[in-house]
Amino acid sequence: MPLVTTTEMFKKAYEGGYAVGAFNVNNMEIVQGITEACQETRSPVILQVSKGARAYANHTYLIKLVEAAVIENPEIPIALHLDHGPDFETCKSCIDGGFTSVMIDGSSLPFEENIALAKKVVDYAHDRGVVVEAELGTLAGIEDEVKVEAGEASYTKPEEVEEFVSRTGCDSLAIAIGTSHGAYKFKPGTKPQLRFDVLEEVQKRLPGFPIVLHGSSSVPQEFVDMINKYGGAMPGAIGVPEEQLRKAASMAVCKINIDSDIRLAITATIRQHFAEHPDHFDPREYLKPARAAVKAMVKHKIIDVLGCDGKI
Ligand code: G3H
Ligand code: 13P
Ligand code: ZN
Repeated sequence: MPLVTTTEMFKKAYEGGYAVGAFNVNNMEIVQGITEACQETRSPVILQVSKGARAYANHTYLIKLVEAAVIENPEIPIALHLDHGPDFETCKSCIDGGFTSVMIDGSSLPFEENIALAKKVVDYAHDRGVVVEAELGTLAGIEDEVKVEAGEASYTKPEEVEEFVSRTGCDSLAIAIGTSHGAYKFKPGTKPQLRFDVLEEVQKRLPGFPIVLHGSSSVPQEFVDMINKYGGAMPGAIGVPEEQLRKAASMAVCKINIDSDIRLAITATIRQHFAEHPDHFDPREYLKPARAAVKAMVKHKIIDVLGCDGKI
């Protein structure tokens, strides 16, 4: 089947109490690792491309890699999504360039400006059959310590979501409930805890509406340990506990964003490979196990965290 939008995926995910994985792609091995895992588990998937990925790999290369994955995996519903679209122009370029879904990230803007920007993107996208994710609330993070300790400032305010969604016409909404980007999400020694009370309140106010969680890598300890063992330095790297992601997936969360865990799987595997094979210099020798590690990690997410296996 051709690339799809997320509309049908989210409808089924909401009703079925599971979430679809949105994995960031930056090169061929990542696209292959993710989609092979989806093929084997019969799982729908969102492949997402950031501004940084477009700068690194080039829009055309990424589009063609994803198109190749569509051809190789004809039964798997695959959506191609712009992650954290920073402005209207970037969204327009992706909509015109073959993406089926875009995110406009106006989360750092004042409420009215966020609405105006999201609505402009929605109007352009919907006319062309493309769906839009918008964001309300600022993702918390260890880097944002002041904000987090100041209390509720960073979390999505549930009392704003109905107005935001109805005035923008967005198709899904990313909210801030305590996740953050990167590999250092919580202070070592503290108990990671997402704000399920905020998610519940949002869900109550927007019944049936798909919610998105960014910053949802779990930062598996096995990868952190491997990286540290083989010459890396990632002390205190901590992610979102998998059981909390499972709970979110059983609620209104239909899309769970994962990038850092892909980076960790690749880096841990390549570090180990070089430590064990210092004579290797053919990239295929270390990219092959790295790709296999991405595939195994994604399979685990699909089956044990997202619950979207068999949901094509
Ligand atoms: O949310 C951010 C994603 O992890 C993408 O990261 O902008 O470095 O490609 P990037
Ligand atoms: P992680 O850094 O937790 O993988 O989050 C990725 C993300 O939110 C991409 O938009
Ligand atoms: Zn994100």
